Amino acid sequence: MVCKIDSWFRLDTTAISDSPSPSTHSVLSMRIALFGDIHANLEALEAVLQDASEQGVTDYVCMGDIVGYNADPSDCLEIVRAMDAPTVKGNHDNDAAGSHSLDNMNLIAAAALVWTRKHLSEEQRTWLQRLRMVRQVSNFTVVHSTLDQPANWNYVTNRFDAMANFSFQFTPLCFHGHTHVPRVYVKKDKIEELAPESIIIDPNAKYFVNVGSVGQPRDGDWRACYAIYDFTHSMLVFRRIEYDIKKTQAKIIAAGLPKMLAERIQEGR
Ligand SMILES: [Fe+2]
Repeated sequence: MVCKIDSWFRLDTTAISDSPSPSTHSVLSMRIALFGDIHANLEALEAVLQDASEQGVTDYVCMGDIVGYNADPSDCLEIVRAMDAPTVKGNHDNDAAGSHSLDNMNLIAAAALVWTRKHLSEEQRTWLQRLRMVRQVSNFTVVHSTLDQPANWNYVTNRFDAMANFSFQFTPLCFHGHTHVPRVYVKKDKIEELAPESIIIDPNAKYFVNVGSVGQPRDGDWRACYAIYDFTHSMLVFRRIEYDIKKTQAKIIAAGLPKMLAERIQEGR
């Protein structure tokens, strides 16, 4: 499950179909799993990676927020790190890595982050701290929140929020997370929102795509969410995956994390 696309596309980001690939698969057969907001939910992460493998995914890109909220930060971090996939930093990664005050956060998120800091090693926190805010991978950009002010962790919930990002988006596609709600904004003559389903990529348009959340979806659907970008067919497909949520909830309670965190994943909020 080793991902090499970021390193070799950095060598030549313009001639995708002509670039030599060190991978065994050709560029045109690439199917990229875009996943993030795992939030230490090991069962959801494992289910997503299993599904991605069954879907013939060849490469992986992570939108950040690997940790926070749920009970398996260390295991989830080590899985993502072992993938060696392009990964950007989320706000919970940043907060778990630091030692700054969490007074500005809501009490439940802060309590989970205090717990998370204690359950990661110094070396793991350093790895989180060193993640980049923005990465370019082939013909797309990856950021946890938005390209206009990535360290401000802005939320995109409508076309007007998306407009600011498009001003700083210089690739045909940009993938992000942060709101835990899958959304697709397309900019051509104007900016429109598309349903997060199967989408044929228009080569004359720009796309700003929220790939949803693996470990804590907030769109009313408890199932883990991620997306597959299919180079061959210029398609984007959203996937919803069931996992052993009872096991995840039991771990949250056993860890002494706020009970509300176990309840909200069931409700997808
Ligand atoms: Fe998140």
